[in-house]
Amino acid sequence: MNDSTLRYFKAQLPALAGGYKLDVPACPVKLNQNENPYDWPASLKQAVFERVRDLPWNRYPPFVPAEFTQVVARYLGVDARQVLVGNGSNELLYAIFVATLEPGRKVVIPQPTFTVYKLLANLLGAEVVTEGLNTELQYDAAALEKAAQDASVVVIASPNNPTGSVINPMDLEHLVNTTHALWVVDEAYFEFHGETALELVQHTPNLVVLRTFSKAFATAGLRFGCMVCHPDAMPMFAAAKLPYNLNLFTMAAVEVAIEHANALKGRLEEIRRERERVARLLREYRGVKVYPSRANFLLFETDRPPRQLFDSMVRRGVLVRDVSGYPRLSRALRVSIGRPEENDAFLKALEFAITEVPPGGKP
Ligand SMILES: Cc1ncc(COP(=O)(O)O)c(C=O)c1O
Repeated sequence: MNDSTLRYFKAQLPALAGGYKLDVPACPVKLNQNENPYDWPASLKQAVFERVRDLPWNRYPPFVPAEFTQVVARYLGVDARQVLVGNGSNELLYAIFVATLEPGRKVVIPQPTFTVYKLLANLLGAEVVTEGLNTELQYDAAALEKAAQDASVVVIASPNNPTGSVINPMDLEHLVNTTHALWVVDEAYFEFHGETALELVQHTPNLVVLRTFSKAFATAGLRFGCMVCHPDAMPMFAAAKLPYNLNLFTMAAVEVAIEHANALKGRLEEIRRERERVARLLREYRGVKVYPSRANFLLFETDRPPRQLFDSMVRRGVLVRDVSGYPRLSRALRVSIGRPEENDAFLKALEFAITEVPPGGKP
């Protein structure tokens, strides 16, 4: 691209363009995106088809999807005036950042974490501060408090992706009450952990909680997320969101999902059990360090070059996430918890990869 073409882009864009990629070789065992390994039952998919069949597809969805938001709010146990619905929680993150970040403002994004936060902050030209996780990659309340002093926003994924670590609820309450930053708590993996900051939101204007239906609800392909904040802050966030961001199909599917929440989430206990089983077996592998996780994935480090382990596992049909390019994770890979037989395939593929790939590479 020549200089005159570049002129109309923001100064930060050339450095960001093409920077967010996901390498997804076709593998029968797919454990790279923290998805739910169990698709919806055919009967529930049918219920969604039937619900959308007679809706007017030629018309826009409601300008403000009030009834739908009410259903979501009831499910979450909060007031509908606190809920904003979105096309995946990524879209709401975008709206939150658009509403709060600009050049000259600081956002605390403890690293390593979900890549999208930093990408969006960079796009908006905000300064990113990366402190907040200690040497064991656990949240460090003192470091967060210090970093938050002159920040506009602090983003906490709890459980964090890719570390699996969680924020202590008492620490969070203290931090939110003693700083002026907006605290964004991303609870994408809430259902695998069980603790939430939702109750705090009611009385706290500087707190936002994000949820998604992509993980526990097995609905990643349909894109739905929601956020909960103080009613006074809601119109500000709503102003930064695109109109008609949810399509009829997604809304029908989410209604069905909520009506059948127990059926869709029925496998969560098995996924949690499998997480502990895989972690226990992985810890028996020589040279492997496994981080404790409260989500549906495990972060582990080995004494072998991660990319070579990744490639070796792909050759055996198992796809994990190579996170060695993330800050502080040069030795790490992340594996999502799948069905028991997929987890066994992963354990076998890693065992083989460790015999195939010699130790070494940069620490
Ligand atoms: C911490 C975290 N937040 C948000 C998301 C994205 O959620 P959604 O599919 O709702 O956009 C992910 C996806 O992996 C995630 O790990």
